[in-house]
Amino acid sequence: MSSSHARTAIVTGASKGLGAGIAAALAGTGAAVVVNYREDAEGAERVVAGITANGGRAIAVRADVAHGDDVRRLFERAREEYGPVDVLVNNAAVAAFAPLSGITEEEFQREMTTNLLGTILTTQALAAQDDIGAASIINVSTAGTLTHPPYASLYVASKSAVNAFTVVAAKELGPRGIRVNAIMPGPSDTEGTRAMGFPGSAQEAQAIADTPLGRTGTPDDYGPLVAFLASDDARWITGDVILASGGLR
Ligand SMILES: NC(=O)c1ccc[n+]([C@@H]2O[C@H](COP(=O)([O-])OP(=O)(O)OC[C@H]3O[C@@H](n4cnc5c(N)ncnc54)[C@H](OP(=O)(O)O)[C@@H]3O)[C@@H](O)[C@H]2O)c1
Repeated sequence: MSSSHARTAIVTGASKGLGAGIAAALAGTGAAVVVNYREDAEGAERVVAGITANGGRAIAVRADVAHGDDVRRLFERAREEYGPVDVLVNNAAVAAFAPLSGITEEEFQREMTTNLLGTILTTQALAAQDDIGAASIINVSTAGTLTHPPYASLYVASKSAVNAFTVVAAKELGPRGIRVNAIMPGPSDTEGTRAMGFPGSAQEAQAIADTPLGRTGTPDDYGPLVAFLASDDARWITGDVILASGGLR
């Protein structure tokens, strides 16, 4: 966070997983945090309760980032409650792993609209605010855009597009003092990866073997990096895509 003032942050997909850890870390630095979710109201309220129990400020707001109307409502609600939004973490995403032959048009729409269009819509909404000064957008990509694992072509393609979008958006928004960066997490233990059966799988064992720091990530591993990128300490960093994967690449 800026050492000079607390900020207002929206973290998309913060009802669980990495988003929940990132929301808690931002709140811990004094930001008022909007915990966005799509379906899991209970999870989002749990994240809010954890933040407020620690003296932080947070509200939960439902919005599907793949829909412009929802995104506009999300920003309106955030501004009503806390004022202009100057930190945006685009964390919401969906993934399904399948061989090339298993990719359907429906799954293409689902992953591309959530992972890429969602990131574009929220970035537009942040930039549409004409009353913000310096601001920071952090897009959550994946180390998979470097490791290119098989059966992840659609997901990795959507996140590679997010990486490219990050660099271009940084150029367009830089003159207004809006920084745009991305982080590339490594395989991590979250509700999402648990639902895919990742813990205890051969893929997890391989990921750990390939990771110099010798373990998978946790939601707590990413908050400090995102909080740094959101802060004025990172004022000279924009258009970067930063690997945070215990060295897996
Ligand atoms: N976990 C990993 O190993 C890993 C590795 C690399 C990168 N990442 C990236 O890290 C981020 C978080 O992953 P995770 O594993 O923590 O995910 P997760 O446990 O599956 O949680 C996903 C979150 O995104 C929300 N979400 C999904 N679609 C949404 C939509 N259309 N609008 C708003 N919110 C939506 C979900 O909300 P509801 O549950 O309320 O619907 C949930 O809060 C993703 O961008 C993922 O690609 C994860």
